[in-house]
Amino acid sequence: MNAAIRAVVRAGIYYKFAIVGIFSGYQGMIKGKMKKMNVRSVANIIHRGGTILQSARSEEFRTRTGRKKAIEKLKKNKIDALVAIGGDGTFRGAITLNKEYDIPIIGIPGTIDNDLFGTDATIGYDTATNTAVKAIDMIRDTALSHNRLFFIEVMGRDSGFIAMRSGIAGGAVATIIPEDDITLEELVEIINKGLKSKKSSSLVVVAEGGKLGGALQLAEKVKEKFSYFEPRVTILGHIQRGGSPTVFDRLLASRLGVAAIEALKEGKSNVMAGIKNSKIVFTPFQKSISTPKIINQEAWRIAKILSS
Ligand code: F6P
Repeated sequence: MNAAIRAVVRAGIYYKFAIVGIFSGYQGMIKGKMKKMNVRSVANIIHRGGTILQSARSEEFRTRTGRKKAIEKLKKNKIDALVAIGGDGTFRGAITLNKEYDIPIIGIPGTIDNDLFGTDATIGYDTATNTAVKAIDMIRDTALSHNRLFFIEVMGRDSGFIAMRSGIAGGAVATIIPEDDITLEELVEIINKGLKSKKSSSLVVVAEGGKLGGALQLAEKVKEKFSYFEPRVTILGHIQRGGSPTVFDRLLASRLGVAAIEALKEGKSNVMAGIKNSKIVFTPFQKSISTPKIINQEAWRIAKILSS
């Protein structure tokens, strides 16, 4: 997200906009936590994880009174257009604010989950997947030495993008994603097949939203029904949301930041900037949050072939 903030500030200044940073999302907007930004405000952040503007959930912004306070603070700071970086919650808030006060808003997709329709990738997804794969590689070392079955849980909320990519790249024996209906028996059959072929370690990547439960529940279920297993569980958790961004994410964020400013200049509003097949595209907020983003079927086919 820092690379996106930097791009918005630098592109904004390039096009002679005055740029104000709003801290802590909509909650900060309500409280008037805002600061004029210049190129120096975004120096030395392109390689840093997290966001210098910080992030917060805001219950108050869900109310009319909260949004009224927010718009008053925007007016006071002479802000007449917004670039909102975030996921579906951010865009839902943007839709309401735009409807009530007609302020132009362009969205930039920032979530590790990659669950927004209208872009091939969201900012953070690639970095999170790389972090997951690094961790899987390390777990493989110990799994190999001890001849063990591991269940490794990755994030993604209700979608299996991180799991699918890290399953393929991490060489998982099986990958469990919310979009798939694998049964416990089918999973055990795959693991057993590996064991019979003298496989010395088995790594199963589990999306946190998987239908059979997260890694802990899944390991319990496997142990209960197939007592010869002694699975180990690793939940990667929030390490996936930090760390220095990959080159892919820095480039994506840089392109989308410039695109957002240019879109405002052209009078666009209520749309999310995204990249599809290497081209910048804009998708209405409503469509980007309500259209299900389907897992790449070709990648899923590859994942299945390679783990069978
Ligand atoms: O949406 C991003 C995400 O990291 C999900 O993958 C995860 O389920 C959730 O946020 C965790 O949220 P929190 O940090 O509030 O626990």
